[in-house]
Amino acid sequence: MASDPHPFDLNENGDATNHNQPTKKPKLSLITPSQIRSEFSHHDPLTARINNGSFGSCPKSVLAAQHDYQLKYLRQPDAFYFNRLKPSILRSRTVIKDLINADDVDEVSIVDNATTAASIVLQQTGRAFAEGRFDKGDAAVMLHYAYGAVKMSVQAYVTRAGGRVIEVQLPFPVTCNDEIISEFRKALERGKLDGHKVRLAVIDHITSMPCVVIPVKELVKICRDEGVDQIFVDAAHAIGSTNVNMKEIGADFYTSNLHKWFFCPPAVAFLYCRKSDKTLDLHHPVVSHEYGNGLAIESAWIGTRDYSAQLVVPEVVEFVNRFEGGIEGIRTRNHEKVVEMGEMLAKAWGTNLGSPPEMCSSMVMVGLPACLGISSDSDGFKLRTHLRDCFGVEVPIYYRAPKDGEINPLTGYARISHQVYNVVEEYYRFRDAVNKLVNNRVTCAALSC
Ligand SMILES: Cc1ncc(COP(=O)(O)O)c(C=O)c1O
Repeated sequence: MASDPHPFDLNENGDATNHNQPTKKPKLSLITPSQIRSEFSHHDPLTARINNGSFGSCPKSVLAAQHDYQLKYLRQPDAFYFNRLKPSILRSRTVIKDLINADDVDEVSIVDNATTAASIVLQQTGRAFAEGRFDKGDAAVMLHYAYGAVKMSVQAYVTRAGGRVIEVQLPFPVTCNDEIISEFRKALERGKLDGHKVRLAVIDHITSMPCVVIPVKELVKICRDEGVDQIFVDAAHAIGSTNVNMKEIGADFYTSNLHKWFFCPPAVAFLYCRKSDKTLDLHHPVVSHEYGNGLAIESAWIGTRDYSAQLVVPEVVEFVNRFEGGIEGIRTRNHEKVVEMGEMLAKAWGTNLGSPPEMCSSMVMVGLPACLGISSDSDGFKLRTHLRDCFGVEVPIYYRAPKDGEINPLTGYARISHQVYNVVEEYYRFRDAVNKLVNNRVTCAALSC
């Protein structure tokens, strides 16, 4: 795909030309390990960055392409705005449409991040309550492990509008999809009590903390069978780390960040809205001149700002196609490697993974030794800070409250990531740091930061 033409190429004046003739771009050879190091040489060499999941990463060649757009804008803003911006955003949307197997480019909007996408969807739900299309007491169902910001959106636009929110309680560690599916069914039943309707299901594709790949296709199908009005998949981590196919998943709304696992600069995400009566009345939270012209157009102009991160999606595709197997090859290797590293760490610490490998993407939860005494969220945060400040390891820590009567529970898990720039020594550094704390009998109670 690296050498494929984009249907909307731009000539030297910045005008869009829609053509189907292949451009003669030289085919790039596969990237070498030293080129990978060079692409990420802006990373702090003293830090083991095994947390791609939180903020993603962007290679130098893409940053250079972004900078180029910024300079073109600053050089001649008027020409850039009138000739270049809209066709360039459309070009990115077209690339995304093909990547995610959507039917129509109008179904794809580009927004800043998954948080913005969630607000767009939840604001529509809020309006349906406020305008009487949904009844008070109708429900929204979401996972207990839904992302904090998304939960806030549900609270702001559903709870405040008189809707009920039902949380799906998920076990962790988790052993199979059926555990999730049966809890999800129970939550839908609760949502329908007293003749109420489930108006919205919010389903993560990959939960953030703890990270688990959710059987999203199966849950969407159950929602359809059970008459749920709208289904929103929060897939902030998905593109670049798992298979993303709109026709197969079949949700009404689906968002994924492109800056997490798809190498875009911060911050850019897409929001897919399936063409149907249910996806009308969607608006960007920032109202601009384009209000009422459709979400994709509204989102493409939210006032004067830097749009460059949205324009480099084609350059990112060129970057990923320098790797064997393109983005599928990258995610397969990341998955294999992160599972291998997770198992290595669990063995070294005498613990276990938080889910079987097939329920992991490019991130894995690894149990931490119980003797670290992680007994609250704040302990987890202190340990994360200590690992970063004292050992140069960036990794998020999850506190898991023990269940009643559990014997020797693991209460702390690390979420490790693997991206193309990671090397095995970084995971060894993490292993050795934890071993040192254990050998020195350091517990979280003793950590000050
Ligand atoms: C599941 C999930 N949803 C939403 C978000 C929010 O992403 P952003 O901060 O880019 O909006 C995250 C971020 O990690 C996430 O993990």
